[in-house]
Amino acid sequence: MKLCMIGTGYVGLVSGVCFSDLGNDVICVDKDQDKINNLQKGIIPIYEPGLQELTLKNFKNKKLKFSTDLKNSIKKSDIIFICVGTPTKKNDIGADLSQIYSVSKEISKSINRFKIIITKSTVPVTTGDEIEKILLKKVKKNKFSVISNPEFLREGEAIRDFIYPDRIVIGANDNKSAIILKNLYSPLISKGAKFISTNRRAAELIKYASNAFLATKITFINEIANLCEKTGIDVEDISIGIGLDKRIGSRFLRAGPAYGGSCFPKDTKAIVTTADKFKTNLSVIKSVIKSNSLRSKLLIKKVNEILKNKIKNKKICFLGVTFKANTDDMRDSSSLEMIPFLSKKGAKIKYYDPTGLKKEFNKLKNVSFSNSIQDSVKNADLVILHTEWNDFKSINFKKLNPSKNLKIYDMRNIYSPLKVKSQGFKYFGIGR
Ligand SMILES: NC(=O)c1ccc[n+]([C@@H]2O[C@H](COP(=O)([O-])OP(=O)(O)OC[C@H]3O[C@@H](n4cnc5c(N)ncnc54)[C@H](O)[C@@H]3O)[C@@H](O)[C@H]2O)c1
Repeated sequence: MKLCMIGTGYVGLVSGVCFSDLGNDVICVDKDQDKINNLQKGIIPIYEPGLQELTLKNFKNKKLKFSTDLKNSIKKSDIIFICVGTPTKKNDIGADLSQIYSVSKEISKSINRFKIIITKSTVPVTTGDEIEKILLKKVKKNKFSVISNPEFLREGEAIRDFIYPDRIVIGANDNKSAIILKNLYSPLISKGAKFISTNRRAAELIKYASNAFLATKITFINEIANLCEKTGIDVEDISIGIGLDKRIGSRFLRAGPAYGGSCFPKDTKAIVTTADKFKTNLSVIKSVIKSNSLRSKLLIKKVNEILKNKIKNKKICFLGVTFKANTDDMRDSSSLEMIPFLSKKGAKIKYYDPTGLKKEFNKLKNVSFSNSIQDSVKNADLVILHTEWNDFKSINFKKLNPSKNLKIYDMRNIYSPLKVKSQGFKYFGIGR
């Protein structure tokens, strides 16, 4: 099939590349000329394991193209996926849908034959209805179908998640388009992915409800970790003890920093705003948002306690600054709150991240990027294990920093407290 992905970011690029690998002809469009120029030269704009190889393979065999020409790309395609951003509004906590609506207007000008238009972006309930209204201003109803097909891939595991999803959700208000979509996804369905066909509004809500539920699970275990710290219990035991109950499940039950990333923070806020619009109070999700927003402050307070209220001039090393491992995405990472705060208090911060220097910290006083774990840990007073990269799982701290005064704040509970303590270091974890 001929597909057009509008927006070549994490979702548009990964799904476009994977669809081309499944044998479709895919054009990935973006308004960012530099991004498209780079992609045409084989330079991938994001860090995502396996993406480069798959992109180059399909670009070479001409199943995958990159363009900034939205009009022609739409005209040549049967199915249009909208994959642009839906960030939080600047002065409000609702979703900013301006990119979605501007793309919808562009699409309405280029419909030359029947097209299926799909929102893969995460959009609030009734957005599909609004897109339909925009299209109807220029195009007859029988020339298009608007469908919701939310994406559930996780950064860092995006290709695997796309090819082996738990489920594929199609929200269509007409049967014909749902069948076309089922055919498009048939190679994944035959590998075991569950196919859920529902109406458009339900598909839109499934995505938000999923993210809100996962954010709730993380926040729940983070609060239980706070209690564990006060009662001398290791939260890891609690995670195992409750996670083995099949009704609960063990995933998303690892205590750590505040949840971040490009989805949970914005999607939890957007769903409560949508619910408020429909006069429904999602009080559980509201408290999750509040608890999570306080979490970085709580962890900063702990850093202050570890350093005995003397942050000024202390050498602090951050290992990992992205919101999770295997991605270069900094959006809403808790390090964006912690590092500026500690720098303001006079700490001397070195950070190392496998995905390199981050422009977000460029202007901060006494914050510098180290290009190795060794260099960042070498003279530190405190090492903060912020992100759970495999590279950080077997560091020989004794070799890198023999000072007995080194303190380790393991925000991912990677290390065994007993082992680290037996090497003579002070160890602090989360909820233990
Ligand atoms: N990142 C994830 O892990 C993830 C997972 C599931 C769902 N989503 C959802 O998918 C959507 C996209 O997220 P993302 O992380 O890929 O965003 P992103 O910011 O990485 O990419 C969006 C791209 O759209 C482009 N764009 C914006 N307006 C355009 C226009 N008019 N024409 C052409 N291109 C345009 C931007 O230049 C950018 O490259 C969001 O709604 C997000 O919530 C994201």
